[in-house]
Amino acid sequence: MTEIKKNKKPWPTRQAMQQIYELNLWGDNGGSFYSGAGSHSLHIVKPYMNSVSSFLKSLDKPIDICDLGCGDFNIGKELSHLCKSYTAIDIVPELIEHNKKQFKASNVSFQCLDIAKDQLPHADGVILRQVLQHLSNHEIAQIVKKLYAYNYIILTEHVPSGDFVPNLDIISGQGIRIKKNSGVNLLAAPFHLKIKSHTLLAQTQLQNNKGVITTVLYEMN
Ligand SMILES: C[S@@+](CC[C@H](N)C(=O)[O-])C[C@H]1O[C@@H](n2cnc3c(N)ncnc32)[C@H](O)[C@@H]1O
Repeated sequence: MTEIKKNKKPWPTRQAMQQIYELNLWGDNGGSFYSGAGSHSLHIVKPYMNSVSSFLKSLDKPIDICDLGCGDFNIGKELSHLCKSYTAIDIVPELIEHNKKQFKASNVSFQCLDIAKDQLPHADGVILRQVLQHLSNHEIAQIVKKLYAYNYIILTEHVPSGDFVPNLDIISGQGIRIKKNSGVNLLAAPFHLKIKSHTLLAQTQLQNNKGVITTVLYEMN
């Protein structure tokens, strides 16, 4: 650990995320992989599921979804049946192998990709849930360029309650911008995501001034 702290050069994101899962840095529920309270706490998950399910059901027909940074799939497993196809992507190979064995459905597939560096699959919409909050601005910018290929972006971010300075930079890893009173806002500098419309889908206030988990739907084209 001391060596990690001394080394100022950021770890490659894949290694950082692998270490988080190996050491249960986002917590532990006794299983092999745990993506954190944001993926499991009913207080956070329930309003998210309700609003995203309603949106998916409101469409004329089921759509193809790419879940970018699917984690332990506790969220995806509840949404995939509402989609035509559900491609779940994560940077951690061991997690993807685990998910492939654990969650089998004819419309669900898993791929191990780095969503910042790799080409992303075609789909109608993407789910990006509590992923960008862990990434540097450089990586977010690489991802933002690829979002124009999709019609819908369902974006969830953990941000400070009240006003905050958007998009202060961090090193990709376990932490998020909240300690700097900052959070990700893709519409603000330096990302300036161009959208057609946005709808607030869900918002959960965390206790003890720990911020808010916000989900927005961006329509793109
Ligand atoms: C906090 S977890 C959220 C998981 C899931 N979206 C959810 O809400 O339950 C963040 C996930 O993003 C993945 N991730 C981080 N950077 C990534 C990248 N560049 N490419 C693909 N996945 C990434 C991590 O491995 C981790 O599983």
